[in-house]
Amino acid sequence: MSIREGRFEEGLDPRIARLGESISYDHRLFAEDIEGSRAHASMLHKIGLLEKSELQQILDGLETIEQDIAKGNFSFDPDLEDIHMNVESALKHRIGEVAGKLHTGRSRNDQVATDERLYLRKSGNALIKQIEDLIRSLLHRAETETETLMPAYTHLQRGQPTTLGHHLHAYSCMLLRDRDRFRDCIQRSDVLPLGSGACVGSGLPLDREFVREQLGFSSLSSNSLDAVSDRDHLLEFLSSASILAVHLSRLSEELVLWSSAEFGFVILPDSISTGSSMMPQKKNPDGAELIRGKTGRIFGHLISLLTVMKGLPLAYDRDMQEDKEGLFDTVDTLNLCLDGMTAMIESIEFDRNRLAQAACDPASATTATDLADYLVRNGQPFREAHRAAGALVREAQKSGRALWDFSLEELVSLLGVDADPSIHESLDPKRSITRKDLPGATAPDQVRKAIARSRKLLEN
Ligand code: ARG
Repeated sequence: MSIREGRFEEGLDPRIARLGESISYDHRLFAEDIEGSRAHASMLHKIGLLEKSELQQILDGLETIEQDIAKGNFSFDPDLEDIHMNVESALKHRIGEVAGKLHTGRSRNDQVATDERLYLRKSGNALIKQIEDLIRSLLHRAETETETLMPAYTHLQRGQPTTLGHHLHAYSCMLLRDRDRFRDCIQRSDVLPLGSGACVGSGLPLDREFVREQLGFSSLSSNSLDAVSDRDHLLEFLSSASILAVHLSRLSEELVLWSSAEFGFVILPDSISTGSSMMPQKKNPDGAELIRGKTGRIFGHLISLLTVMKGLPLAYDRDMQEDKEGLFDTVDTLNLCLDGMTAMIESIEFDRNRLAQAACDPASATTATDLADYLVRNGQPFREAHRAAGALVREAQKSGRALWDFSLEELVSLLGVDADPSIHESLDPKRSITRKDLPGATAPDQVRKAIARSRKLLEN
């Protein structure tokens, strides 16, 4: 069966056929394509364009095709271009001429748009589950580290004391937003295009509402030209994917840095480490590096589809066939990365001593800001306090001492202020974290509350 039989006298040049085929990748839409066809056929019966027995033959035929494809017992024909024509042609072989009624009032343009929205819903929901699993592992690890001191960095220089729990919880917050972005995207994509035909709808009395209900969409597209040419939902999906990839990549980068001898914050257990083919001593964080590296292809797919879409006149253009490979690869890549990251978060070990040493390193003077805060509480303007604390840090570094090594008398004279013994408390990194007692800040009680809030959001 060919769509060329009527209009064309000559066959298609194989070089153009090779360029045009999409079955080599859109076969992945087979279940969605058949689901859409079932709903469409049932609707055709409802409006009197298919006999009951014809509908039954079509449904039975589609059923056997679906089973065969799922079992790998189906051979796709590239001459039939895409999944839509492959299924329709197989149906004709199995049930005869009546198969020709299935495409009544339908175009591959509204068909593929429908298949893709069904696919986005299914794969998006699966990714959301994986994101949630990763968030769960992160929250679990964060919860047990709310008292584990470490430095917070700015410019990758030690800034102020924080805790590992607070640091890990930051990633849970990012991933919760990622989860919600995918949800939003699925929700906005929850519109049925079928019934839009090739571009202007159909002259047949199709019951779109019935098909919508069958396929579980929330609403009908309200403009057929838009419906067949809209790929916003895929762009949103790829954008959400790219932002998620950024987060996974940043976490990966930290795992790579932290597992280096230079940081030594993280110990990679054997189960997630890789070896070197030459250097026998090596234990490498390849998993984290690959997640970081795979970000490139995910961004690439977003840029690629933005570029495909940007100059297209309404309505459908064949360029849009280029939307699929990047979409599938994005789904597959995120699937790998999310599972891999969850495995790493579940099993990495933290070197708490090393983390605390970095926070308490005298040379890093991570409590200099706390000292300025102390002076502010004693009535100094912050700029003056900042200068005085800075001068003390300079003095400490010159003489190789820690801020807390200075006696009260020395502090009073160096800072030029009245101070009481509690000034030493302000210099203690452990106390520094409990003083950051604002919502969203580092204090262990605040972090525990924040983690509890994230758990609630996660289960929502
Ligand atoms: N394989 C095509 C695609 O993915 C299906 C739509 C083809 N429509 C057409 N008029 N040639 O975009």
